[in-house]
Amino acid sequence: MGSPSLVVSHVSKIVDDKKILEDISYTFYPKNIYTILGPSGSGKSSLLRLLNRLDESSSGEIIFDGQTIDSYVVCELRKKIGYLFQTPYLFEKTVKDNFLFADNTVSNSQMLELLAQVHLSQKMLESSVEKLSVGEKQRVAFARMLLTKPKILLLDEPTSALDPSITEAFEQFIQKITIKENLTTIIVTHSPEQAMRFDQTGILIADGKIAESSDIKSLLENPQSDAGKRYKARELS
Ligand SMILES: Nc1ncnc2c1ncn2[C@@H]1O[C@H](COP(=O)(O)OP(=O)(O)O)[C@@H](O)[C@H]1O
Ligand SMILES: [Mg+2]
Repeated sequence: MGSPSLVVSHVSKIVDDKKILEDISYTFYPKNIYTILGPSGSGKSSLLRLLNRLDESSSGEIIFDGQTIDSYVVCELRKKIGYLFQTPYLFEKTVKDNFLFADNTVSNSQMLELLAQVHLSQKMLESSVEKLSVGEKQRVAFARMLLTKPKILLLDEPTSALDPSITEAFEQFIQKITIKENLTTIIVTHSPEQAMRFDQTGILIADGKIAESSDIKSLLENPQSDAGKRYKARELS
């Protein structure tokens, strides 16, 4: 399988005496897509936020590319470990300004190609971001994230604001760049159908712990843990 890109060891997160994440350990490898599933409030976003230091863990260790994430300058770490929020977060001004903020050396033709890859009109480059729909903003945010050449993509319910017609094209693009750019892609999704379309590794989080992880089909169709069985009963039947 080669070297891991991200190793999470015994990570916990406590907020106001409440254990939000407890003893999370997991090893991620490049060229793989990991789908994180679990009930609302189980800690999925909290885990993602620890991985690029949007939050700090209370204990445990996270190793990226052989080094603890604490040893990186935080803005450099976040270029390498990109985070796409569920609600897109862009600066005011134009799409182009947003792209240039991420990489001030990017050429016009590269920006146009990027727009095409995320299924946006090339005319949009000069548009003010305020004029865009939420789904369009989400795709601009994704394109902007790619400009910093991340090695890890953390995507928190990235398609919840997209039309179903665009969702599958977006999923295919994620699959393509994960392989082509040797990325490690970690996606939180509330959609077992989406997890099945990615058809790779599933990680089920329940009550702040990893209840089980395996290939997504086994996890959804033949769960071993009590939490997995409850998740299946609620989500799939
Ligand atoms: N900064 C915070 N302060 C207090 N509680 C938080 C904070 N962040 C998350 N939580 C709590 O942690 C739990 C997990 O939240 P979250 O990770 O957002 O769940 P999910 O993404 O799985 O829906 C919830 O009970 C939530 O209320
Ligand atoms: Mg969440």
